[in-house]
Amino acid sequence: MPKHDTPLLDELEKGPWPSFVTDLKRQAEKKPECFDILGQLELSYRDKVTHWKHGGIVGVFGYGGGIVGRYSDVPTQFPGVAHFHTVRLNQPSSMFYSSAKLRDICNLWEKYGSGMTNMHGSTGDLVLLGTTTPNLEPLFYDLTHDLNQDLGGSGSNLRTPSCCLGRARCEWGCYDTQNLCHSLTMHYQDEIHRPAFPYKFKMKFSGCPNDCVAAIARSDFAVIGTWRDDIRIDQAAVKGYLSGEFIPNAGAHSDKDWGKFDIKAEVLDLCPTGCMWMEGDTLKIDNSECTRCMHCLNVMPRALRPGLQQGATICVGAKAPILDGAQFATMTVPFIEVNPDTEFAEIIEVIEKIWDWWMEVGKNRERVGETIMRIGLPTFLKVMEITPTPQHVKEPRSNPYVFWQEDEVEGGWDRDVIAYRKRNAQ
Ligand code: HEM
Ligand code: SF4
Ligand code: SF4
Repeated sequence: MPKHDTPLLDELEKGPWPSFVTDLKRQAEKKPECFDILGQLELSYRDKVTHWKHGGIVGVFGYGGGIVGRYSDVPTQFPGVAHFHTVRLNQPSSMFYSSAKLRDICNLWEKYGSGMTNMHGSTGDLVLLGTTTPNLEPLFYDLTHDLNQDLGGSGSNLRTPSCCLGRARCEWGCYDTQNLCHSLTMHYQDEIHRPAFPYKFKMKFSGCPNDCVAAIARSDFAVIGTWRDDIRIDQAAVKGYLSGEFIPNAGAHSDKDWGKFDIKAEVLDLCPTGCMWMEGDTLKIDNSECTRCMHCLNVMPRALRPGLQQGATICVGAKAPILDGAQFATMTVPFIEVNPDTEFAEIIEVIEKIWDWWMEVGKNRERVGETIMRIGLPTFLKVMEITPTPQHVKEPRSNPYVFWQEDEVEGGWDRDVIAYRKRNAQ
């Protein structure tokens, strides 16, 4: 496969950010099909349209997803990318790797594919970019037999779950996100590999409300760590911040001079509920009014820590705009224990209540967030066997189109107009 002239892409080798063009050219020396990927991309830059054909259905036997088929619409010009399928590999939780593992994956991919990757896909998968249909089964065989590794999800199924790095190296992890992510991934292999849902369904796990994996925006099922007792305050460390010994936000703003740390302006007055105050140089928190927003902990990580009664909040239904508008996830379970001793049975119960309902009533290609909108939060909570609480809403409804169940209304719905006319003659 010859090199192609790529004057437009060559521009992207300039500047300080690592250039994907430079990387691809280097890879093309080993894998000539990468010249064709550059050539076709250059053509797209010129034409301002994609040069991939619509869709593509490929895969491996036994699974209904995991590989995204793709074919060039200019295959004679760029034969190296005539087939250019993408293989999703299920990444380890939080993406910690050993170099040995990555070397194995790279060797496998040099053997069967273009050597081009995406580290990682937005959902979390390690993405292998570009191979041919005949290579899929051999690749899958080696992947499973030699690397003890599986594909990720695609299609109307449970997609690859992912998590923040949590307790692996964060002091705010209110539960072991990696353990939960890994355990549920293993528990639901069938749902990941063989699409059985009305549409896609994603799970993400964050250790605290900072939500480093953006679970509340990017997953149908978001588990976000929190605590229910008091924030732990180290008053000596608070004094360390006041004296300037410790830098606020662990130095996150030190590229600019924001003046001396001012606990009133930077913490107390910014607390969303105004539940903090100073008595002398002692910091006080009215924890009953704290919403666990993380602000004060983020500013003074050496002085403030999450409480010890830790668990998580479950929010359901986030999705991108198509069809009926973007949604963040809706708070569904305010607090749940995340308990490895029960193999997370409490969380599994919540998941399966959602699935039992949505798999029956969800319309074709309707995300669970849309099903909740269509059928209503009250019904959703009822099928979840959750008693509605004020925490389920940001504000009560302002319209009065309130539905009642017939058995809630004395006398029911069967009324006789003749009886009414006896009291109200026409
Ligand atoms: C607290 C007092 C009241 C509340 C909360 C209330 C609320 C409502 C609401 C929500 C509607 C439906 C609006 C719509 O369909 O667009 C409505 C309709 C109506 N209300 Fe009231 N209303 C109140 C008092 C009254 C009173 C005192 C009268 C008459 C003297 C009245 C006469 C009507 C009429 C005629 C309609 C139109 C019904 C229709 O369009 O089919 N309402 N009201
Ligand atoms: S979400 Fe919270 S626990 Fe997880 S890495 Fe981010 S700050 Fe730490
Ligand atoms: S976590 Fe947020 S709401 Fe709670 S005390 Fe700190 S700043 Fe206030």
